[in-house]
Amino acid sequence: MNIEAKFAGLEVGYDVPAIPGMSEEEIQTPCLILDLDALERNIRKMGEYAKRHNMRHRAHGKMHKSVDVLRLQQELGGAIGVCCQKVSEAEAFARAGIKDVLVSNQVRDPAKIDRLARLPRYGARITVCVDDLANVAELSAAARKHDTTLECLVEIDCGAGRCGVNTAAEAVAIANTIAAAPGLKFTGVQAYQGAMQHLERYEDRKTKLDAAIAQVEEVIEALKKEGLEPELVSGGGTGSYYFESCSGVYNELQCGSYAFMDADYGQILDKNGNRIDKGEWENALFILTGVMSHAKPDKAICDAGLKARAGALRPDLQRARLVCRHPQGQGRDALAGIRTRQGILKTGPLPPLVARSVHSNRPNECPLKTQSGHRPIE
Ligand SMILES: Cc1ncc(COP(=O)(O)O)c(C=O)c1O
Repeated sequence: MNIEAKFAGLEVGYDVPAIPGMSEEEIQTPCLILDLDALERNIRKMGEYAKRHNMRHRAHGKMHKSVDVLRLQQELGGAIGVCCQKVSEAEAFARAGIKDVLVSNQVRDPAKIDRLARLPRYGARITVCVDDLANVAELSAAARKHDTTLECLVEIDCGAGRCGVNTAAEAVAIANTIAAAPGLKFTGVQAYQGAMQHLERYEDRKTKLDAAIAQVEEVIEALKKEGLEPELVSGGGTGSYYFESCSGVYNELQCGSYAFMDADYGQILDKNGNRIDKGEWENALFILTGVMSHAKPDKAICDAGLKARAGALRPDLQRARLVCRHPQGQGRDALAGIRTRQGILKTGPLPPLVARSVHSNRPNECPLKTQSGHRPIE
């Protein structure tokens, strides 16, 4: 569909905040904006990293839930497919023509298992995580009913204390059962250590990941002894991908947050002690806001209050950098140091502020992500 047709009949302000081709000032605020230049740089960077390290990158789609963004990750970053957390997300990606979809979770509800088992009919490779023997029979029955094949990763709890089995023996038992089940294929191991990704210190993250890698190694050895060599060993997020990539154990990354980068993630430190949003990745998602009132010389009230910024309910994210522009063109720097809480900007004696520009306007393609676009002021 061409752009004109897509936006035909939509009223700016009421239906959409902007349409392509509009000038910056015409965008109706508050509005979630995606800086495509920054996004593309992040995507290319991760793609080049994965390629250099001989890793597949299966981009996690839970962060953007957008087929358009995933396609960019495939085209510019070489992503081989997508991870998602729910069957409804897998359906959206498979129906849109994405050919390699992993539900990086367990699916147990019978109706959802049935929906999942239909998805290979869209021509996609569909993979799901399993951590329970009983689930193997459920998935197998649904795949047989729809005459499809579901691929399965045995999930290992490698430190997060959530889904996944703890021991190599349990992993082997499930893998053997999958391998023997009609309609299923044993494809490998899911080992995402989610609990360490946001730890501030690089060394602390490394300690956790070293332990995870040792555990995954043990499971793989046990599987190999049974003749069950995993094709995929998948895991890794934005706070850990360099550990998995250099482990010699994993062959697939699942990073997602790197693409937009957010205020919480941005605070973690790289190997050299620098915040990861100060060099490694760029913030690409912002909230564009306009100033409604500047009646008091030291305060400007903007139209992105608490509810426009769900993450701002967290005290550590209440100091967010909003994208505003000074009418005399001083740009973002004019606001450096301004703190915002509930849409109130503490300013010096500035003339009224207006909304700043965006690099692109695809707000409808990019649902709001809690916390994203909030750049805390150091
Ligand atoms: C299973 C799984 N894999 C990958 C990711 C993406 O990791 P990140 O957002 O840290 O890049 C997540 C995110 O929570 C996840 O739950």
